[in-house]
Amino acid sequence: MASQHRAAAAYDTVAAEYDLRFCDELDGKPRDRELLDGLAARASGVVLDVGSGPGHIGARIRASGRPVVAVDVSLAMADAAARRVDAALVADTVHIPVRAATISDIVAFYSIIHLPRLRLGDALREFARVLVPGGHVLLSAHEGTEDVAVTEFLGHQVDLSATFFTLDELVAAAVDAGLTVTLAERRAPYATEGSTNRLYVELENQ
Ligand SMILES: C[S@@+](CC[C@H](N)C(=O)[O-])C[C@H]1O[C@@H](n2cnc3c(N)ncnc32)[C@H](O)[C@@H]1O
Repeated sequence: MASQHRAAAAYDTVAAEYDLRFCDELDGKPRDRELLDGLAARASGVVLDVGSGPGHIGARIRASGRPVVAVDVSLAMADAAARRVDAALVADTVHIPVRAATISDIVAFYSIIHLPRLRLGDALREFARVLVPGGHVLLSAHEGTEDVAVTEFLGHQVDLSATFFTLDELVAAAVDAGLTVTLAERRAPYATEGSTNRLYVELENQ
């Protein structure tokens, strides 16, 4: 089965537990809050939360008064997100059903991790397509070089792939997609997180 269909099935299965476990996670993540609030302050129109999960990331941006539309391949996640943001679309990161050059900003926290490594460029080009000139992207990912098969998640059996990226790899893919890198940083995991270093990349559309 294609990776986006496996991701949809896996996240449909764990959606309720994911929501319970992570909906308040930003309380313990000061750097994430700072980056999200920075994006919200710069935004001038609709913000997309791509791979939104239950919408708690988009909700942080919406709290700053920006309209937020969630995009997730999982119907259960999109349903949950629609209760926290303005609207939600069930769609794939690499094919967002939105007219070109209409979106102010995109946040994609830990959703590119479910793309096959070779599709990262497709996702970034899709982001560039929907963003207005001067629009921004904020990505996060786990640092590493592995492609991991996940068979158990939040107490359920799943069939899911996770891709770890290096910071250099994210930066190079963004430049290839015609995006300008305005921030590229790593941080050690907070005590509440798993053991991987976290990567953050901010990009500006041409
Ligand atoms: C690890 S969760 C992250 C959710 C949220 N952004 C967060 O930071 O907690 C990954 C999310 O990406 C979604 N996802 C996975 N592959 C996707 C794809 N190809 N297109 C859109 N969403 C996808 C999953 O359904 C899931 O909701």
